[in-house]
Amino acid sequence: MADLLMNDMDNIIISEAQLQSRVAELGRQLEDDYSGKEPICIGILKGAIMFIADLIRATNIPLQVDFMAVSSYGSNTRSSGIVRILKDLEDNIKDRHVILVEDILDTGLTLNYLLKNLRSRQPASLEICALLVKDAKKGMDLKPKYTGFVIPDNFIVGYGLDYNEKYRNLPYIGILKPGIIDE
Ligand code: IMP
Ligand code: MG
Repeated sequence: MADLLMNDMDNIIISEAQLQSRVAELGRQLEDDYSGKEPICIGILKGAIMFIADLIRATNIPLQVDFMAVSSYGSNTRSSGIVRILKDLEDNIKDRHVILVEDILDTGLTLNYLLKNLRSRQPASLEICALLVKDAKKGMDLKPKYTGFVIPDNFIVGYGLDYNEKYRNLPYIGILKPGIIDE
């Protein structure tokens, strides 16, 4: 059998069509809310690559794109809250309208750190646009203004999200077969 990614999948929880239609809705929402404001969309590498690419194409107003890369120490499937900036923004965000584009909000530790960091740079506004929010979100009282889907507390991959740097290129979001993840 060929070494296809789909052979590792247990089930698909969000199909390609569902992703595309929800992301298009979010784009139209951003269009309405940020018309005339020329926002900066900040994608968090690497998980948000697919989402931000589709989202900005669905947002038909002038905007800019920038990226940050962070690493949060921890195991492969759990984050620890200790965040390190691997790549910072190229542009100054002072007095700009900033949209932080994240793949997934799990414990909220990563986003909480990023929010604090970005707020200190005095943007005119700062909102979160998260594709996924895990249902049983532990602790932290973080509510993104824009959310794609609320999902159960399973480890998922695809559409930018990885396990051990694999599966980002799946066009849908799914759960891996038991036995593939070694905790
Ligand atoms: P948090 O700090 O616990 O909110 O985790 C945020 C980061 O952990 C995300 O940006 C993802 O990179 C990663 N992450 C959290 N849950 C998952 C998952 O189910 N699959 C893949 N990556 C995840
Ligand atoms: Mg990851």
